[in-house]
Amino acid sequence: MARGPRLLPFGVLLLFMLSLLWYTKSGDGLSYIQGHGYSYNINPAVGFKSPKDSVKDVHNSTLGFQKAFVLNLAERPDKLDAFALASTLTGFTAELIQGVRGEEVVNKALPSLEGLPEKLDSRNNVVGCWRAHLNFAQTVVMEGLTSAIILEDDADWDTSLKDQLAIFAQGSQYVTAVSPNLKPHSPYGDDWDLLWLGHCSNQIKPDDERRFIIENDDTVPLTKHRVNFAGVPDMAAEGYDNNTRIVYEANNGVCLYGYALSFRGARKLLRGQAQRKTFVPIDIGIGYMCRDDPNFKCIGVFPQLIDSHKGAGRLSRDSDIGSFSAQSVRQKGYTFNIVHSTRLNIDHLLAGEMDKIERQWPGDPEVKGPLRAKPVGRIFD
Ligand SMILES: *[C@@H]1O[C@H](CO)[C@@H](O)[C@H](O)[C@H]1NC(C)=O
Ligand SMILES: *[C@@H]1O[C@H](CO)[C@@H](O)[C@H](O)[C@H]1NC(C)=O
Repeated sequence: MARGPRLLPFGVLLLFMLSLLWYTKSGDGLSYIQGHGYSYNINPAVGFKSPKDSVKDVHNSTLGFQKAFVLNLAERPDKLDAFALASTLTGFTAELIQGVRGEEVVNKALPSLEGLPEKLDSRNNVVGCWRAHLNFAQTVVMEGLTSAIILEDDADWDTSLKDQLAIFAQGSQYVTAVSPNLKPHSPYGDDWDLLWLGHCSNQIKPDDERRFIIENDDTVPLTKHRVNFAGVPDMAAEGYDNNTRIVYEANNGVCLYGYALSFRGARKLLRGQAQRKTFVPIDIGIGYMCRDDPNFKCIGVFPQLIDSHKGAGRLSRDSDIGSFSAQSVRQKGYTFNIVHSTRLNIDHLLAGEMDKIERQWPGDPEVKGPLRAKPVGRIFD
């Protein structure tokens, strides 16, 4: 008889505690636990805190952009197979942008013939790539997309890509914000042209006013494992340790493993490339726009979030142009700069074995504390 009333307060207490637990996990909209257990909290320093829930769309099936695309040449359906697996296992789907063979692009269709490689193979290689990226920009403009991301079909990323992007997005909001209280339409903020997420070189704009610093990030490769092909931020000289990633306004860069354009960025890219006086490969051309055009705002991240995977097997399969000897074979695949490579963990992901996700460099020391992210730099006027 007396049992009911005595259990009731207990039940209420339990409910209260459960909701408290739920609240602390999701209450500020800034904590995520997914993948292999990547979690973080923003330090709301310098009067900036990205508005509640403003980055939640990053977890949707187009990574918080209006559309996601993959660049693939029709003759390499094998690369598209692998991309389809990796992207859907990470929780996003991409539409196809067809790769372009350079021989199909006549000289008349180029803004300038100056600077074109003399060898026909090389000419076709850079011209095809250039045209394919312009087709992406053209699609964004013609479809009126507010923003879109494109990845190369052999791109690779960390199994926690969405969590990384949620933090990056807050950084991008901060670096581009004009006021501390505006809720942006895009999770990545509303004042950017290009987000350079996957590169093999990228630099910080001189005299940059703001940066977003992500510390104790166990998806950051140690300095000794990093491989880049041209200039990158000198992290040690800037006072950052081996587990720090930064988001900043970007200067020039190289390689386009994965990047996003806003609608206005896509328009400017079409305009900028059509006006070129000399022909340069598209990644270099984009880098020049980031560096030289004060109206083309690029946001960079270092270490990069997207890189290029080199699969196990015949080296001749790597490149769509194929200059490697057909005989050489790579025993084990790898991806520069990516700690929990999605490509190398495909079997674990397929089996749902999130606890077995492997690091590319297993012997590395663990990070020293919880992940922290903080905005630094100019306070709002
Ligand atoms: C994902 O989020 C973005 C940004 O809010 C939005 O534009 C896009 O439509 C969303 N994608 C899907 C499939 O809902
Ligand atoms: C980063 O790691 C390297 C070894 O890879 C070490 O020499 C260096 O001191 C570390 N930097 C910091 C800031 O801890």
